[in-house]
Amino acid sequence: MERILITGALGQLGQEFIKFFNKNNTYVLATDIRSPLKVLSCDFEIADAMDEKRIDYLIKKNNINVVYHLVAVLSANGEKNPFMAWEINMKSFQNIINLSINNGIKKIFWPSSIAVFGTKSNLSFVKQDCILNPNTIYGISKLAGERLIDYYNNKFDLDIRSLRYPGIISFDTKPGGGTTDYIIEMIQSLKNEKEYTCFLNKNTKLPMLYIDDAINGTIKYMSINKINLRVKDAYNITGFSITPFELEKKLNELGCSAKVIYNSDFRQDIADTWPKEIDDSTARKDWGWKFDYGIDKTLKVVFK
Ligand SMILES: NC(=O)c1ccc[n+]([C@@H]2O[C@H](COP(=O)([O-])OP(=O)(O)OC[C@H]3O[C@@H](n4cnc5c(N)ncnc54)[C@H](O)[C@@H]3O)[C@@H](O)[C@H]2O)c1
Repeated sequence: MERILITGALGQLGQEFIKFFNKNNTYVLATDIRSPLKVLSCDFEIADAMDEKRIDYLIKKNNINVVYHLVAVLSANGEKNPFMAWEINMKSFQNIINLSINNGIKKIFWPSSIAVFGTKSNLSFVKQDCILNPNTIYGISKLAGERLIDYYNNKFDLDIRSLRYPGIISFDTKPGGGTTDYIIEMIQSLKNEKEYTCFLNKNTKLPMLYIDDAINGTIKYMSINKINLRVKDAYNITGFSITPFELEKKLNELGCSAKVIYNSDFRQDIADTWPKEIDDSTARKDWGWKFDYGIDKTLKVVFK
């Protein structure tokens, strides 16, 4: 039986993983540095992922045998304080790996991101194996994490797995300071007939994934026999790619008439080094990855 520790559990993804595991009667200990605003459907403890002793205590006390390590400072927030972002993203991951080795935990999930790509990655369609030259501290930390996965898996016979998530779209949980957050903000503003100022240029195409696809895909990937996984660090996966202007038009078609103003900020520089389309054929072939939600189905969730 899996007994799962989730770190950074109150974030956009963590809360959705909790819901999934709860439905499937899997034990979860959720941890975060802040308190939940509403009662969770699982055990919860305040714990800083930088505090090795505290996490060690919780792993032992709750007989944890799988970790979903979701703590990260995301792309846009990372650029505001790169030293802090590197410290949190790398040290917390190293802590989890070290504690896993010491407590006999083999299986760890650690999400990577499309931020690992860069201007040399052929951004119009990034392949699984291509040059990776990230330009943000977030992307650099994700690339370093991917290398650590391969290194530690070999050295300590661990089973750390990772997916390069594109921008995740969810409506129940809020995004945590990334470059793709505009998509959720624009949908919610226009639905409420509120003017929206978009921080990206209208023609900035970025890959996105609806939350249910992200969660279900991750669970499927985590369940696959290791010998079938040819990629030893992180798989490309994606849903659909869209520009802010294309999204605005879709929302207009759904009857939203509030104005969108395009006023790009520092996040445009980040988006300019990220892929427009992702080649996820290796994930499809190796473990049957596929998405279910295109843009129209995603919008149907909100405009029922
Ligand atoms: N959301 C996306 O679009 C996206 C895309 C690609 C990759 N990812 C990756 O998925 C993972 C989860 O992302 P998310 O969107 O849920 O992030 P988020 O910012 O919404 O949540 C992160 C959580 O970590 C907590 N946290 C921060 N520092 C902590 C610490 N020291 N100890 C314990 N908790 C701490 C925060 O309080 C927050 O609840 C991250 O690794 C992120 O890089 C997310």
